[in-house]
Amino acid sequence: MSEQSTPAPRDGANNSVWDINSAPRLNVTANTIHEPYDTIIVGAGITGVTTALMLQRAGQRCLLIEASKVGFGTTGGTSAHLNTFFDATYPEIESDFGEEASNLVAESGKESMAMIKHFIDEYAIDCDFEYKEGFLYSETEKETRQLLEILEASRKAGIEVIESRENDVPLVFDKAVRFADQGQFHPLKYIRALLNEYLKLNGTLLENTFVREAVYVHDLHELDAGNLKVRGKHLVYATHIPPGINIMNFTCAPYRSYVMAIALKDDDYPKGLSYDCQEPYHYFRSHVIDGQKYLILGGEDHKTGHGDPEQAFRNLEEYARQHFRITSIPYRWSSQYYVPVDGLPYIGELPLSASGTYMATGFNGNGMMFGTLSAKIISDQILGIKNKYAELFSPSRIKPIAGFSEFVKENADVAWHFMADRFSSDDLNSLADLPPGEGKVVEVKGEKLAAYKDENGTVTALSPTCTHAGCTVKFNPSEKSWDCPCHGGRFDIKGKVITGPPRTDLAQVDLKNTLSS
Ligand code: FES
Repeated sequence: MSEQSTPAPRDGANNSVWDINSAPRLNVTANTIHEPYDTIIVGAGITGVTTALMLQRAGQRCLLIEASKVGFGTTGGTSAHLNTFFDATYPEIESDFGEEASNLVAESGKESMAMIKHFIDEYAIDCDFEYKEGFLYSETEKETRQLLEILEASRKAGIEVIESRENDVPLVFDKAVRFADQGQFHPLKYIRALLNEYLKLNGTLLENTFVREAVYVHDLHELDAGNLKVRGKHLVYATHIPPGINIMNFTCAPYRSYVMAIALKDDDYPKGLSYDCQEPYHYFRSHVIDGQKYLILGGEDHKTGHGDPEQAFRNLEEYARQHFRITSIPYRWSSQYYVPVDGLPYIGELPLSASGTYMATGFNGNGMMFGTLSAKIISDQILGIKNKYAELFSPSRIKPIAGFSEFVKENADVAWHFMADRFSSDDLNSLADLPPGEGKVVEVKGEKLAAYKDENGTVTALSPTCTHAGCTVKFNPSEKSWDCPCHGGRFDIKGKVITGPPRTDLAQVDLKNTLSS
């Protein structure tokens, strides 16, 4: 496997195949601040950029704020499948939300796909967009029963799907179905083009600007980003879980998915998009970047801060080698997504918050589609336009049926960490035992430290207590980050927040003082 030396322009040490070099940088610096803004959007992934563009097009004056670079978060690490069938399957949606809701979700998927295509056509965006067929296949009797239910319920919801004799990948299968009109694109090329249009309409963008605090004063949201204070009538958190402690911490669980971009010896690349029915499932597609064709293969998902990221990559590689003739694996990376308690995303006004605060999260593995849909729902709500999907996806909905038992497990797990993290140490080894390039929670003179030793042997010590709600962070050796097992907050090796909901960096610990005390 080749080493990756380019610094990652995303929220982890591993570069994704959507390399910064394969999409032009905009080199945008802060434009002039014209405040108060009509809407301030925090987070410049697909949700934030699309929302900002739609509102600016509608005549609003918007400010888009990004803590790092555009596409730094999950949009820079997605596998960029565009689907009208989702991780929450149509049989599940029908049984938990009813037939009408199932039809509406299908309609929302088609509308989201049409929006993406419309933007691509309208702005002549070169982002490798292609319509594809989507293959879902079973390998066991139980999976076949589930697959046939999916076939029936998807058709009933209005999705075009038929039985198929092939699954498009060199894997033995029992049954397969084929969905029409699915798609794929290059996510960074796409959002950068949308961003360009937003800027042409005089939208304001601030990169490298981390919002520390937001308060609501005199009907305006006042945001504090260090030296910068800005105000806006509406505030949209396009950051997955909104920052700070809020109700979304209890309705969504953070997961990581593992992806590889693989060069094959033969031309055995999938033509469409394929998915098995395993739990968690594997997904396959191909993409040509700078003349090189890649198989993009993903899976081995697990809850953030749990599981072993290196083992997940090993499993995925072993799986790939079993089924494909591999030349090299130039890219491997992981990315974060959020599983909602009842299967459907939460899009709209953030419950129990200041008036005019919006959010979008719980997209499961369907972020490109639901991110785009969120832009439509939220921009309609801000502009006072009735949106037919708003009620179904409302973050205030009370729908504790679907996935409930699973979520009880998730929350029990969070509760356990709240307790265990206060009374035990992950590891009692001394700093000396820490190998270079590794991080660990260690105990030094009775004090727990999140210690990272770089290749030169220099140790960076941080408080391991997550600044969100006090759980103990765990080192992710693959992405070189400190991941929180409770709500998915993530920090880089210097303690800087790279994924919310925490708002504050991990505290630095002066090792000299600790050791000499
Ligand atoms: Fe909630 Fe760390 S993300 S305690």
